[in-house]
Amino acid sequence: MTTITLITGGSRGLGRNTALSVARRGGDVVLTYQSRAEDAQAVIAEIEALGRKAVALQLDTGKVASFPDFAETLRATLSQVWVRSTFDHLVNNAGHGDGASIAETTEAQFDRLVDVHFKGVFFLTQSLLPLIADGGRIVNFSSGLTRFAYPGYAAYAAVKGAVEVLTRYMAKELGARGIAVNTVAPGAIETDFRGGAVRDTPEVNKFIAGITALGRVGLPDDIGPMVASLLSPDNRWVTAQRIEVSGGQAI
Ligand SMILES: NC(=O)c1ccc[n+]([C@@H]2O[C@H](COP(=O)([O-])OP(=O)(O)OC[C@H]3O[C@@H](n4cnc5c(N)ncnc54)[C@H](OP(=O)(O)O)[C@@H]3O)[C@@H](O)[C@H]2O)c1
Repeated sequence: MTTITLITGGSRGLGRNTALSVARRGGDVVLTYQSRAEDAQAVIAEIEALGRKAVALQLDTGKVASFPDFAETLRATLSQVWVRSTFDHLVNNAGHGDGASIAETTEAQFDRLVDVHFKGVFFLTQSLLPLIADGGRIVNFSSGLTRFAYPGYAAYAAVKGAVEVLTRYMAKELGARGIAVNTVAPGAIETDFRGGAVRDTPEVNKFIAGITALGRVGLPDDIGPMVASLLSPDNRWVTAQRIEVSGGQAI
């Protein structure tokens, strides 16, 4: 049976690349976007050109109150498009880059990071549990920044660290349903993240390449295929793991 993978933040960057990678392996996709409906539709068109089914739904993963309605919309979509009441894989990828030094981080910045990157992951997963098929998978996106530290990322890295702990608890509690749960922690990747800082700032790019064992900054194509592979039957016995995908950054 064809698998259905739900990817939050699939309109751009790593989520987009993961969606296309899943489709190339023969999977169908539901992706969410926050504001860029046109970008999301472009990804849908690319997936359909690969011969797979795909749907885009709007979602702000920082707005927990909207999750029951989102779950209902998803339930209706699964029924209409796939004649199914469940989906197979949840990829909690959506997120924004923001931060400042500890001295300068505002409460609003901190709260938004918590809402989108941690509280949203917890309660979106909770809301979707009845729709995830037994034997399914969950992948939560963290960051290399939980292992190494750069000034300006304290709040961001701390909430990603919380997601890593949450991943182990999800693996424990959902294991009885045969659901495997893992963290993927990318290093610095060239996307729009944090205003495209890694991609568009030559000195930042050069610095990161210089401290990375494989000698360059990461690209979206370094991440999406890895996640699609993790979701494949080959990796069915992998659970509760933090897998860093950073080319050996800061080792
Ligand atoms: N790039 C890196 O260097 C890097 C490294 C480690 C970890 N990560 C993590 O990887 C994930 C993806 O990052 P990326 O580099 O692909 O970022 P990106 O290129 O900026 O794309 C972000 C995606 O997330 C969506 N999004 C952002 N905030 C959202 C919200 N509140 N609710 C719902 N969707 C939201 C965006 O939707 P719209 O298109 O509609 O705005 C977009 O699809 C994030 O969790 C990030 O923390 C990134």
